[in-house]
Amino acid sequence: MIDAIDRAALRRTVAVVNGKGGVGKTSITANLAGLYAAAGYRVLAVDLDPQGNLGNDLGYLGAGLSDDGAAFQMAATVGAAPTPVRDVRPNLDVVPGGEQLHDLAAVLQSRRLTGRGGVESLAASLGAVAGGYDLVLLDCPPGSDVLQAGALAAARWVLVPSKTDDASRAGLREVARRFVAARQTNPELTLIGVVLFGVNPSARRVVAQARETLVQDLGGAAPVLDAVIRHVEAAAVDARGRGQLVHELERDVHTAPKWYERLRHPDQGRLEPLASSAGPLAEDYQRLAEEVLARIVAVEQTAEVPA
Ligand SMILES: Nc1ncnc2c1ncn2[C@@H]1O[C@H](COP(=O)(O)OP(=O)(O)OP(=O)(O)O)[C@@H](O)[C@H]1O
Ligand SMILES: [Mg+2]
Repeated sequence: MIDAIDRAALRRTVAVVNGKGGVGKTSITANLAGLYAAAGYRVLAVDLDPQGNLGNDLGYLGAGLSDDGAAFQMAATVGAAPTPVRDVRPNLDVVPGGEQLHDLAAVLQSRRLTGRGGVESLAASLGAVAGGYDLVLLDCPPGSDVLQAGALAAARWVLVPSKTDDASRAGLREVARRFVAARQTNPELTLIGVVLFGVNPSARRVVAQARETLVQDLGGAAPVLDAVIRHVEAAAVDARGRGQLVHELERDVHTAPKWYERLRHPDQGRLEPLASSAGPLAEDYQRLAEEVLARIVAVEQTAEVPA
């Protein structure tokens, strides 16, 4: 018997969701989690993706701390609290995902099809661990309908990364459908907004047009956030390759040996230059972190005003 979902514990749980692949879900989850943790919040990041990419961005895969989601799969099947990996960064714990979550998806789906519930055990499992944190971020998989539904059954908030092309607009319609379905059992679920990912910062007019189109698509149902995440491949590749967050990479860019120091000390081995584009990207993530938290707090304060 699965206990009821602890909504109070989940009141600061944000699902980063879009059924479309490669729109920045994992990068945004990892970087926001890292920034909030660095600001002093106690943060839990949960990898709900069988691809397990969150471990690349946070750098715990190489450290042997991931079990490919095996423990999470077992806990989520019965609605028990998963045991997070502690202190992946100061203040930041993680529930690792990975290929074992295919099994979780299969179990939840079969329960759904046979009328024995569905995603409640996953939501109950997240509720059983969320209470220990100020913020919980869920990195959702593309594709798996049941795992996305589980995340939306648990979350209080939804953040939707999107690119600006037509295929991404179709992806947004799918998110809207999932969101409406999830609200039937989770009526407080609130859309924080859509964040544009991978935009070209010098193509201002194109970005403004894309934003306008999205605002019309959404019909006022959710804001398109002011903060955007720019396309800078070099910094993104460096960050994921080193298991670092963008603000950590930026710090290292400043302290890394300059080109003339590398020339002067060739004996120290080959040191790859780091992408100097990390700085503007780090600022994008900071702006996004501020805007997301401000929107959550604004809604919370409105709800607190007595009628
Ligand atoms: N600012 C950026 N500019 C360019 N490329 C980026 C940037 N940030 C991340 N990337 C790259 O874009 C790809 C997609 O990013 P990410 O994995 O965050 O998306 P996702 O929505 O989680 O994908 P999936 O649906 O596969 O889980 C990755 O290869 C990542 O390294
Ligand atoms: Mg991902």
